[in-house]
Amino acid sequence: MKITIVGAGAVGASCAEYIAIKNFASEVVLLDIKENYAEGKAMDLMQTASLNSFDTLITGVTNDYLRTADSHIAVITSGIPRKPGMSREELIGINAGIVSSVSENLLKYSPNAILIIVSNPMDTMTYLVHKKTQIAKNRIIGMGGALDSARFKYRLAEAINCPASDIEGMVIGGHSDVGMIPLTRLATRNSIPVFKFLNDKLLSEVAEATKVGGATLTKMLGTSAWYAPGAAVSSLVHSIACNQRKMMPCSVLLDGEYGQKDICIGVPVILGSNGIEEIVELDLNDDEISHFKLSVEGVMRTNSLLK
Ligand code: LAC
Repeated sequence: MKITIVGAGAVGASCAEYIAIKNFASEVVLLDIKENYAEGKAMDLMQTASLNSFDTLITGVTNDYLRTADSHIAVITSGIPRKPGMSREELIGINAGIVSSVSENLLKYSPNAILIIVSNPMDTMTYLVHKKTQIAKNRIIGMGGALDSARFKYRLAEAINCPASDIEGMVIGGHSDVGMIPLTRLATRNSIPVFKFLNDKLLSEVAEATKVGGATLTKMLGTSAWYAPGAAVSSLVHSIACNQRKMMPCSVLLDGEYGQKDICIGVPVILGSNGIEEIVELDLNDDEISHFKLSVEGVMRTNSLLK
């Protein structure tokens, strides 16, 4: 199983690291446009192989797409990240051009690859890849919901004072500060609804902290986060590569599901060897439906900025 990661910045490199540590892929190719940068990251990571007991070969290349040939899965992390105070939407101009040319180059050498889009604004970049490449919709997946859900579980665990592994929960909707919908009604601690542990005020604080999870870190770090984004991408890649059929919220093209069409937005899907195996329709209540509609409108507004 060969996996390519485009962009050897912090997110791309941490994604390569988590994939390698899980030891399910034969090869990870890390590609960057900066001369020798991906080669350096790959060499540094390969020097952890004996320490972390993995056999995955990590190769770094400078913009040489021939070396990515016949990848099963390709992850696009390239583009500029957020600076403190910036929204994900502000990145659209520069990142749209980068994501279009990267996806074209990837498919030239790996025509059957499943593409995972991480570059922001992610839902709009995922939509753009659909428009530009015209490949089957099960092969284009935007990563946002898995990360936002991990941040939601972190905040719930913190508020309840329990390990995050006790928590189940999902965030659907757009991957933006206003568009995210943490599903507090459905979240549980070992099958007990979280509202049995937390009152409405605490639950809404958890939801708000989740929605600005990326912005909070960007403010603290001076650039956008990478450990949780890298780990979230690696969990998508793992589920596809090993046909685990895990359910995670991902940004996918809707064609009537959730009453929406011609938009990529976060909803739960089953991820297996074909990429998106199935879109799961949740029974949302009126309040959640109205939030989802607002989130759709926000993503549509960003999509309309694409030229
Ligand atoms: C974040 C970026 C990856 O939420 O969108 O940290």
